[in-house]
Amino acid sequence: MLLAAAEVKAGQAATAKLGCVACHTFTEGGKAGLGPNLYGVVGAAHGHMEGYGYSAALKGKEGAWTFDELNKWLTKPAAYAPGTKMTFAGVANAEQRANVIAYLNTLSASPLPIPAAP
Ligand code: HEC
Repeated sequence: MLLAAAEVKAGQAATAKLGCVACHTFTEGGKAGLGPNLYGVVGAAHGHMEGYGYSAALKGKEGAWTFDELNKWLTKPAAYAPGTKMTFAGVANAEQRANVIAYLNTLSASPLPIPAAP
C-alpha cells in the first residue's frame, strides 16, 4: 500500500468524487445513512457503529479494520465480504485507496501511526 505518501486532502476529495458521501457521514456522532457513520472506523472492529444494521457478512468478519483490511475491502467490497450490503464496486486505483484510508484515519481523536514506506 502507498500510505506513506498518501494525501489526506486528496482522500477527502475522493470520498466526494467516488460517491462515498452519498451513503456515509464522516463527522463524530454523525447519523447513519444507507451506510454507517465512518468516524473512528480505522482500528475499530468490523461493524463499528453502535446500532447500525450491518450484514452478517461484514459484522461476522474477525479482527479489526487495519489499514491492510481497509485496503482489501475498498478494492472490492463484494469479494472481501461476500453478501455485504455495501453496493459499491470498489476503488480500482491504489493511490486513491491509500488517500481515502489516510483520510479515514484522521477521523479519530487518536489516529493510528502511518507505517513508513517499505
Ligand atoms: C451505495 C451506498 C454506499 C457507498 C457508495 C459506499 N458505501 Fe461504504 N457502506 C455502505 C453500507 C450499506 C455498509 C454496511 C455494509 C454491510 O453491513 O455489509 C458500508 C460499510 C462501509 C465500511 C465498514 C464500516 C464498519 O463500521 O465496519 C467502510 C469502511 C466503508 N463502507 C467505506 C466506504 C468508502 C470509503 C466508500 C467510498 C469509496 C464507500 N464506503 C461507499 C454503503 C455504501
